[in-house]
Amino acid sequence: MIKLIGIEKSFNPGKSNELHVLKGISTEVKDGELVAIVGKSGAGKSTLLHIIACIDSYDSGEYYIDDLLIKNMSEKKLANIRNEKIGIVMQDFSLVEDFTVLENIMIPLDFAKNKRPNAKELAKEVLKQVNMENFAKEKVRNLSGGEKQRIAIARAIINNPSLILADEPTGSLDSANTEAIMDLFFSLNKQGKTIIIVTHDKELAEKCHRIIEISDGRII
Ligand SMILES: Nc1ncnc2c1ncn2[C@@H]1O[C@H](COP(=O)(O)OP(=O)(O)OP(=O)(O)O)[C@@H](O)[C@H]1O
Ligand SMILES: [Mg+2]
Repeated sequence: MIKLIGIEKSFNPGKSNELHVLKGISTEVKDGELVAIVGKSGAGKSTLLHIIACIDSYDSGEYYIDDLLIKNMSEKKLANIRNEKIGIVMQDFSLVEDFTVLENIMIPLDFAKNKRPNAKELAKEVLKQVNMENFAKEKVRNLSGGEKQRIAIARAIINNPSLILADEPTGSLDSANTEAIMDLFFSLNKQGKTIIIVTHDKELAEKCHRIIEISDGRII
């Protein structure tokens, strides 16, 4: 379970361009929930997702994952938590363009504590799940936006995380691929994964268990 209590976040604090993005976000997401985060562009959705992913810090409030307070932790500790519990699909994919598809999705396995002897087989299995098995040896730079999106999802789920975070995971997909990816998220959710999806897609948000709407740094 994750729990956010009064989370505040500003960019460029104390400077003339200071931006108070999150103004006291409090919510809980229970294990096994499938939640959508919606809100206008610039509302702070990605910022919030990065805090939940332990990629970004917050200024005040408290953030707990499974009763563990995520605050003032060393980068090493945070990296361990991310590798053990969290898979994230970033809005810009954050793939390594010069690596092949297979190399990209195997990156998290290198950081995992329990090295898998069958890493390549596992990677191929995950590629199949996102319908990209024929692209294993292709360089990511040659892929379309929608294909990159699916590779980013494959990379997010390869370590079998209990919490999956996805920032606009269907933003550049056509309707057939959107449906395929949503089916994938639904089936991961049915397997017990907790999933938080940032989306502009109303139809998609309504298929989730719950919608969290952010406006002007607050949940409304
Ligand atoms: N590292 C940063 N430094 C300064 N400002 C930032 C930084 N990251 C985000 N911002 C600003 O914070 C605000 C919230 O950004 P965020 O990316 O969280 O919005 P969003 O809700 O995800 O928007 P979108 O729907 O367009 O992705 C924006 O005004 C953005 O310009
Ligand atoms: Mg965003």
